Amino acid sequence: MAIAWQESLATGIRDIDDQHKELFKRVNALLEACSGGKGKEGIPGLLAFLTDYVVTHFGAEEAYMERFAYPDAAAHKALHAEFTASIAAFSNDLARQGPNLNLTVTVNRLVVDWLIRHIGKMDKTLGAFLAGRF
Ligand SMILES: [Fe+2]
Repeated sequence: MAIAWQESLATGIRDIDDQHKELFKRVNALLEACSGGKGKEGIPGLLAFLTDYVVTHFGAEEAYMERFAYPDAAAHKALHAEFTASIAAFSNDLARQGPNLNLTVTVNRLVVDWLIRHIGKMDKTLGAFLAGRF
């Protein structure tokens, strides 16, 4: 089961879309590793990537929100904080339990669902608000 970035997920903001595409690539690499029976081996790398990614990528989106006084910033940032907390919790699980199938499946499910839902709604709404402002 692969997930594909598609035009319907475009926010219209170049750097944000590029970061989303990179994220899809990384998640796909893990999904592919899973179908090849190597999901467990891929999970530490994906979690390390996501730990950095949430800082730089959410930081980029939130900087746009502040710069243009985005009215829905508080709700959007709260969702970012929630996802960041989930990644931190998974990293703790990984440190405690080591790589395992259950963790791999749980991380996959959360990340894939969250991405599609969050980009498709919150990030696209932000993109529409930013359109033409810079
Ligand atoms: Fe976002």
